Amino acid sequence: MPKAKVLVIDDEKLVRWSLEQKLSRDGYEVECAASGEEGLDLLRQDGHDVVLLDMRLPGMDGVRVLQEIKKLDREVAVIVVTADTGVARAVECMRLGAHNYLCKPFEFDEVRVELEKAIEEMKLRREVTRLRSQQHRTFDVNNLVGNSPAMQAVRDLVTKIAQSNAATVFIGGENGTGKELAARAIHFDSTRANQPLMDINCSAVSENLFESELFGHERGAFTDAKTAKKGLMELADGGTLLLDEIGDMKLSMQAKLLRVMETRQFRRVGGTKDISVDVRMISMTNKDIEAAVARGEFRQDLYYRLKVISVRMPALREHPADTVLLAQHFLQRFTREFNKPLKRLSPESEDALRRYRWPGNVRELRNTIERIVLLEADEVVLPKHLPPEIQSGMQLGGRTAAELPAEGVKLEDVERDLVRQAVERAGGNQTQAAQLLGIERDALRRRLQKFNLIP
Ligand SMILES: Nc1ncnc2c1ncn2[C@@H]1O[C@H](COP(=O)(O)OP(=O)(O)OP(=O)(O)O)[C@@H](O)[C@H]1O
Ligand SMILES: [Mg+2]
Repeated sequence: MPKAKVLVIDDEKLVRWSLEQKLSRDGYEVECAASGEEGLDLLRQDGHDVVLLDMRLPGMDGVRVLQEIKKLDREVAVIVVTADTGVARAVECMRLGAHNYLCKPFEFDEVRVELEKAIEEMKLRREVTRLRSQQHRTFDVNNLVGNSPAMQAVRDLVTKIAQSNAATVFIGGENGTGKELAARAIHFDSTRANQPLMDINCSAVSENLFESELFGHERGAFTDAKTAKKGLMELADGGTLLLDEIGDMKLSMQAKLLRVMETRQFRRVGGTKDISVDVRMISMTNKDIEAAVARGEFRQDLYYRLKVISVRMPALREHPADTVLLAQHFLQRFTREFNKPLKRLSPESEDALRRYRWPGNVRELRNTIERIVLLEADEVVLPKHLPPEIQSGMQLGGRTAAELPAEGVKLEDVERDLVRQAVERAGGNQTQAAQLLGIERDALRRRLQKFNLIP
């Protein structure tokens, strides 16, 4: 394989000839053109990695050619070649996206060095573009699977927030409900998609480190600070910063965070200068923040600030109608990923999946399906392939497995909970909910009133 495809555009036959000889000997695949028009034709046909472009050309001049090249392929590296006196114009070319320039007459070694640098950079640029478009696909809002009204509402809200200017967003919800998925969708469906996305886990980093991670530090700010370092806020400038598990953040940091949220200004640790950034901050937690506020573990002012624009990811048991759809989604995904024949769910398995309460939410469902795809050879997923806790609801003929706790129980609470679950599962349809409980519709009505569950 040649090292790279180089296109030489130069009207001097001798220059073309000598570059072609030498570059071919170095292992490049070389094509030559005597004019801008000819060069653009070749580029359109073959696609090159690097162009060596002479500025003084007959017909279309170098600057125009450069503009056309960049229209055809934004990532191709262009090295501009100019006569000594044309430096000002060469600088103009850099502004238009040229990689670098060489002055005539040049040594071949200079060409060689510039070419290698340009190719490295071009490869990196192509890689970044590839990764970005891959991330776009992996993280857009349609990755939040679910047809229930609850999930549709989440997708609508996420899309609205993404396209809004909201600078501070909060996402709450239990473990495994897709908070991170929603946060990434907000970034990748926004105009910030091509800007950096940074994240930090507020519970994993120690308090001291946290501040310098977030705000950076100046040289000598503390013993280990041998050089100045940018923090995540600075690195995320123009883009988005995810603050995961914000419910675990220490009070002293909460105060600093509040200030940044209000002013978008901060100082590096050991610094004296205020730094301004444009960062969308998305915080997430599975903790009950209101309870944390009540206990004095979370600042009320920060909480009020956070909840202005907020998304609540529903627990899977609140939209059980999506369970089978999600299971099928993961079956498809994992059979493809592990190169296995596609599986389907037996009606009994579907029933069991719908009945189970999923304390670990979508993540638990995902892990369950992944395990089945890896370990079970059968083409149909049967109840016996499911973990015992998921099977158990089913073996009891649909009755909820209930065991009287040692300390006893308040029967009314249990009844209230079951009635609420039935209504949820029936999507608010009272006839269906009554059927689920084996009672008449009027009997259900009475209980809804008694338990104050009327929507
Ligand atoms: N609606 C959904 N559609 C498809 N996949 C989902 C959905 N919700 C969650 N997932 C998947 O479930 C897993 C857990 O989701 P995610 O990490 O976003 O949850 P989380 O709310 O951040 O959980 P935690 O609070 O534990 O950090 C991921 O693999 C995610 O892709
Ligand atoms: Mg998470």
